[in-house]
Amino acid sequence: MNGISVLKTANQVGKLVFKWRKAGMRIGFVPTMGALHKGHISLVSLALEKADRVIVSIFVNPSQFGPGEDLESYPRTFNEDLMKLEEAGAHCVFFPSVKEIYPDGFSTSVHISGLTETLCGKYRPEHFNGVATVCAVLFGIVRPDIAVFGEKDAQQLAVIKRMVKDLNLGVDILGGDIFREPDGLAMSSRNSYLNSEERKQAAVIFKGLSKASELVSKGERNTERICSAVRKIINYKAPLAEIQYLEVVDLCTMEALDELTTPGLLAIAVYFTHTRLIDNVILNP
Ligand code: PAJ
Repeated sequence: MNGISVLKTANQVGKLVFKWRKAGMRIGFVPTMGALHKGHISLVSLALEKADRVIVSIFVNPSQFGPGEDLESYPRTFNEDLMKLEEAGAHCVFFPSVKEIYPDGFSTSVHISGLTETLCGKYRPEHFNGVATVCAVLFGIVRPDIAVFGEKDAQQLAVIKRMVKDLNLGVDILGGDIFREPDGLAMSSRNSYLNSEERKQAAVIFKGLSKASELVSKGERNTERICSAVRKIINYKAPLAEIQYLEVVDLCTMEALDELTTPGLLAIAVYFTHTRLIDNVILNP
């Protein structure tokens, strides 16, 4: 164990990063909301490959939760998270209070138009403003050379890449592969909300996505037909699943594609009672 440091203020992080940078080190950053699983840890490992020092933030960001969403009940497991991060070899955990990130008088909101209006953005209208704003604040505090985000949240990854490019933030954004349970369910902090029957049926989401890849490899290019095959599998094998959206979109703009002439993202959001799960696969024609 390397004796990971836990810092709670922006000032402390700034001082530590200043010291590291003076020593010529590259700084890697992995923002999270905690309740860490192997998917998060795989991002930390990727950051450790690409940087000399890695900071992980744990902050359940209120501004990205909508009214009636799970801000209060979102799992908070700081002690376990800390052990996992220490074992993974991260160097520092930034664990700020809400006041530290949003002090009195905070008045800024970062809005990325276009690609935040489809998929999740259609159903969670303030969500990406909250994500972009907190990431901008965190980038300002940590000033990393690289930051790693999971491809599991593909729209979030596209939004952050767009923001960094548009605002010239000078952070290299890397995407990490989706980490899955043995039955294919994408790991998520929200999987803990599922009861045993829902958990069993949730594995069908990945079966649906795999069917889409199979159809594309056999030559199917029509996205409506691909989506309807996926829908059929999920509706038939997971009767508790309620699909919120299921769409093939452009990887950068998140706009719907009718035909797969270039690689597309098949993205899905599914409700199991009150638990909302998202997943995706890249379809390569
Ligand atoms: P959170 O849901 O904690 O996720 C933190 C990071 O882990 C995100 O980049 C997410 O895409 C990635 N991740 C989640 N599940 C994954 C999986 N199964 N495989 C690989 N990566 C996975 O996403 C957020 O927090 C927040 O929106 C945040 C970016 C921290 C801003 O508040």
